[in-house]
Amino acid sequence: MHENLNIKMATNRTFTMLKPDAVEKGHIGAILEKINASGFRIVAMKLTQMTRTDAETFYAVHKERPFFGELVEYMTRGPIVAAILEKDNAVEDFRTLIGATNPADAAEGTIRKLYAASIGENAVHGSDSDENAAIEGDFHFSGREQF
Ligand code: RTP
Ligand code: MG
Repeated sequence: MHENLNIKMATNRTFTMLKPDAVEKGHIGAILEKINASGFRIVAMKLTQMTRTDAETFYAVHKERPFFGELVEYMTRGPIVAAILEKDNAVEDFRTLIGATNPADAAEGTIRKLYAASIGENAVHGSDSDENAAIEGDFHFSGREQF
């Protein structure tokens, strides 16, 4: 019964990380406030730090890209806030809320426009599909940590 409920609700969940730059700059509260005000429910959350292996695994899809080494350095240099968020149409709506990968291209009022410094250090992650949201959430949280 509990498993069935989680499978049904997975389509309405996304996974996020407030990246090391956002945590270093003291933006955790402001970003969570914006997430909350945009109608997302926090299903799981913690302050944690990715190991090199964690970051290489999490971003394995980018391992052939020229920025991969920098990305791993960046994502492992300090703590992140990892969270699972729930809302109707969560994946797409959260990508809209965070804005384009490059903050120079991000729409006014988006989290990256407000808090990101550059395409490399862009404050926040958002899953790009329902499938990846479930994989990424389970990478960081056990079943009993997901409410
Ligand atoms: P994310 O996965 O973190 O939510 O970001 P995204 O989908 O908007 O962008 P993606 O293409 O998946 O890239 C992952 C992260 O790699 C860094 N990046 N650096 N220097 C560069 O040209 C470059 N391009 C990407 C960013 O931290 C980006 O969010
Ligand atoms: Mg991505």
